[in-house]
Amino acid sequence: KKKISIAIDGPAAAGKSTVAKLTAEKLSYVYVDTGAMYRALTYKAITEQVDIHNEEQLKKLLPETKIELKPSENGQLVILDGNDVTAAIREAVVTNKVSIVAASRAVREEMVSRQQQLGQNGGVVMDGRDIGTSVLPKAELKIFMLASVEIRAQRRHQENISRGFSSDMSQLMKEIELRDKSDMEREVSPLVKAADAIEIDTSNLSIDEVAHEIMKLAQERI
Ligand code: C5P
Repeated sequence: KKKISIAIDGPAAAGKSTVAKLTAEKLSYVYVDTGAMYRALTYKAITEQVDIHNEEQLKKLLPETKIELKPSENGQLVILDGNDVTAAIREAVVTNKVSIVAASRAVREEMVSRQQQLGQNGGVVMDGRDIGTSVLPKAELKIFMLASVEIRAQRRHQENISRGFSSDMSQLMKEIELRDKSDMEREVSPLVKAADAIEIDTSNLSIDEVAHEIMKLAQERI
């Protein structure tokens, strides 16, 4: 059986990671959450009081930053320089700064290269913003997942509550819109649907329905 690559892109909180994880599980593929990599780097920059608007300072941080994505029973662990930062990188302080770090050219070059290494043998499901356009331009299956801002905020709200974080719906809507705007308007590999990506609007679909649709498309290509 052929091991294909699956790229899942789309705006914030569209349900990409949940569906990507499920798809990877069903196919026994590796799941790579590229957003977690940008989040881990942002977390480190904040902790080390690096000026995130300073390209040179961000660039210096890269070679000394080790980010590992480890599969675990309840999802994926994110290990930064040997420390578990899985929960910490989901906090609002990181979420609200990550798009600034992710806009840096040096940061993107490094992260894209690391991600390409992780995907070089195929058998991978990767989710992010530029997977189909920059990281895995030859992926056999490219999905672009969409949903209305209201629905995405609602989902993130539920997720926050189930994780034990405080959460405010109208605040979330604002944050999601702002993050989408910076991700779409940045100069280096902005969030855009690849020409050969299949669009799925998940506004009225359950996670299982979306996963089922993606599995069907994957099976056609394996
Ligand atoms: O997917 P997630 O919401 O965790 O991503 C966090 C942020 O990381 C995004 O808002 C975006 O700024 C950045 N990102 C990116 N390219 C990717 C994945 C994430 O720029 N491939």
